Amino acid sequence: MRRILTTLMFAALCAAPAAPAAPAATLRIVAGAQRVTYTGAQLLARRDLRTLHIVDSIYGRSFTRFEAVPLAGLFAGLKVPSLAVIQCDATDGFSAVLRASRLLATEPGTSTAYLAIEDPAHPWPRLPGKTASAGPFYVVWTNSRASAIGAEEWPYQIAAFQVLSDPRAVFPHAYPAGDAAANVTAGFRVFQKNCFACHRMNGDGAASIGPDLNRPMNPTAYLTPRALLRLIRDPASVRSWPGMQMHGFSVAAISNADLADLIAYLAYMRLREPAR
Ligand code: HEC
Repeated sequence: MRRILTTLMFAALCAAPAAPAAPAATLRIVAGAQRVTYTGAQLLARRDLRTLHIVDSIYGRSFTRFEAVPLAGLFAGLKVPSLAVIQCDATDGFSAVLRASRLLATEPGTSTAYLAIEDPAHPWPRLPGKTASAGPFYVVWTNSRASAIGAEEWPYQIAAFQVLSDPRAVFPHAYPAGDAAANVTAGFRVFQKNCFACHRMNGDGAASIGPDLNRPMNPTAYLTPRALLRLIRDPASVRSWPGMQMHGFSVAAISNADLADLIAYLAYMRLREPAR
């Protein structure tokens, strides 16, 4: 009896989490009819696991050591068409939609994406201003300058990856029509890369951090062109409060030409009947 009790106590002590009990981390990957689920332990036991030293934009130099597997290795064997996008669903409502050709690139001279895995035995630090870390799974890049990887391409707290082979069919209300002007189509790509992770568009998308940017009203309908431009470059220069979550986009993140295309896309969407 005593022994059982000590064993139980020991088990209870070992299991005692520092934070409220979290379920064991699992990662889901969905590619069409193919579905794979990995536990954190399975990922940490992979042969292609390596230790990377990366200075990212959230932990900076305060924490740089990550155990990680190449994303391309994780998707090996899954059907990913070259024009597909990969939706990275995070537990906090962030949902980056990233181009598969970038995320799974392995050519020399390009940036390489890895999935960093938080080992519960060596937890990562909390994110600045948040109660949790970037774990359990975090997309990090080596050589991130090579392909100009943007801030929204480092999704953290990932729960699932979904391969969307035909994004136009999945987001029919966010895509410009086939005959839309070239700058509108280019602006959509800027939107998808930089904004779609937090904002839905015309009801499409999975993000729930910021408001939909067309429904019920498009920002070009109530912000002057100058205010909208300023809001994207530096949101706090338009409205400022302690809980604001949107960060600004510098010229390095979105060039002036890309910003003009992005605004052309937003204005175009305003004229598109919000269907449904
Ligand atoms: C990290 C998440 C995030 C990203 C990325 C992001 N936003 Fe936001 N955005 C928000 C949130 C949250 C708000 C609501 C205000 C706040 O909390 O800052 C907001 C507010 C806005 C608003 C004002 C809406 C209103 O009526 O109050 C506009 C316009 C906007 N965003 C446009 C954009 C555009 C364009 C991009 C891409 C270049 C973008 N956002 C990228 C999170 C984001």
